Amino acid sequence: MEKITSIKGIKDILPADSPVWNHVESVARQTFALFGFREIRVPIMEKTELFKRGIGETTDIVEKEMYTFPDRDDELITLRPEATAGIIRAYIEHNIHTYEQTTKLFTIGPMFRRERPQKGRFRQFHQINVELFGENKPQADAEIIFMLTHFLRSAGIADFSLEINSLGCKKCRPAFSQAVVAHLKGVQKSLCPNCQRRIKTNPLRVFDCKTDICQDIIHKAPKIHDFLCRECEDHFTEVKSSLTDLGVLYYVNPKMVRGLDYYIRTAFEVKSGALGAQNAIAGGGRYDGLVSYLGGPDVAGIGFAVGMERLLACLPQNENKSVKTDIFISALGAAAQKKAFLLTNKLRLAGVTAEMDYSDKSLKSQMKLADKLNSSFALILGDKEIEENVAQLRNMNSKEQQRLPLDKLTDALINILKERH
Ligand code: HAM
Repeated sequence: MEKITSIKGIKDILPADSPVWNHVESVARQTFALFGFREIRVPIMEKTELFKRGIGETTDIVEKEMYTFPDRDDELITLRPEATAGIIRAYIEHNIHTYEQTTKLFTIGPMFRRERPQKGRFRQFHQINVELFGENKPQADAEIIFMLTHFLRSAGIADFSLEINSLGCKKCRPAFSQAVVAHLKGVQKSLCPNCQRRIKTNPLRVFDCKTDICQDIIHKAPKIHDFLCRECEDHFTEVKSSLTDLGVLYYVNPKMVRGLDYYIRTAFEVKSGALGAQNAIAGGGRYDGLVSYLGGPDVAGIGFAVGMERLLACLPQNENKSVKTDIFISALGAAAQKKAFLLTNKLRLAGVTAEMDYSDKSLKSQMKLADKLNSSFALILGDKEIEENVAQLRNMNSKEQQRLPLDKLTDALINILKERH
């Protein structure tokens, strides 16, 4: 039969890699708890309308990258390309704002975008995503960025750079957009075909274009900072000084616009030189106005998401990926097999990691297996030992052996193993 492979850009996380995933996730949980964040788990599928309205109709994600399909009743459903819209939907649906003034949430899980797969870019990828609702002060921006950098360091990422920008607000951004459109129209023919279209649909997206010619044009385009209103300017100044107070190093990148439409004021990205073209480990920003735009109360919001695969790619390769077993029970002969079967499972109930082999292999090959499973001990149990009511316990490191009475075996083993822990 022809084998069935996984879908392009969608990868398995194999057992050897799980420990590092679990470690990073548990560092996230511990770090976020220090800052008062609690976990929320939202669905992987939502109504398509949520993402269209939330992320923006003319973003690349909504225009080209969503996995959307009609359900059996013809309702359009989408596999979530990001977590923010779904968390806001849940926040509104459960009226969380009525019993909490500020709400701090995080979620961890898979996202789906039909992008062109390449190093660091997948069609199913995983995010650690954080959202804070109900706080519009610049200190919240600084605190959330501070938490992100603290998390990355705690997870073992030493070398990264933080870029921040202010994208203005509903009041001041239109004038900036108009100035950008005027600039782009002057050089329209030189832009790539995609950006020529973007002048009409979403001109600020041109800032994201990677082609050299468009980058050159963007370099000479008007800068948002010349258009910020007083409030946005003050907010940004305060974010920067709070970051400095917290000892967070940052670089202001006036060209950063982010790929989602909901941001206002502060936007930020974390990049790593250890990655290739897809060098953003994390991105986020403020999105005041989005909660009400999605049908909820007028509540401020800010958040970020870390790309797990990219974060892990920055970590030094963990060589020690093998399993660890407390004891391997090597049974030789039918009666010994029967005894070993019960003993192995009894030990597991007592909190000992125990393994055995059901096939009647030679002692030599069973010892090889014990080594492969990284066992601290092997228990050798043959029909002769059963007759004598004993078993041989072998320390797999020192190779020392000791005889243990069979009827007290479980307790004796538990004691020896517990002493070692
Ligand atoms: P984003 O910048 O689209 O933001 O994604 C955040 C991070 O997810 C990226 O920096 C990257 O590490 C990772 N990522 C994105 N796409 C892929 C992909 N195709 N393959 C691998 N990794 C990827 C958001 O998603 C916002 N929802 C973040 C946010 C939360 N803003 C406010 N709250």
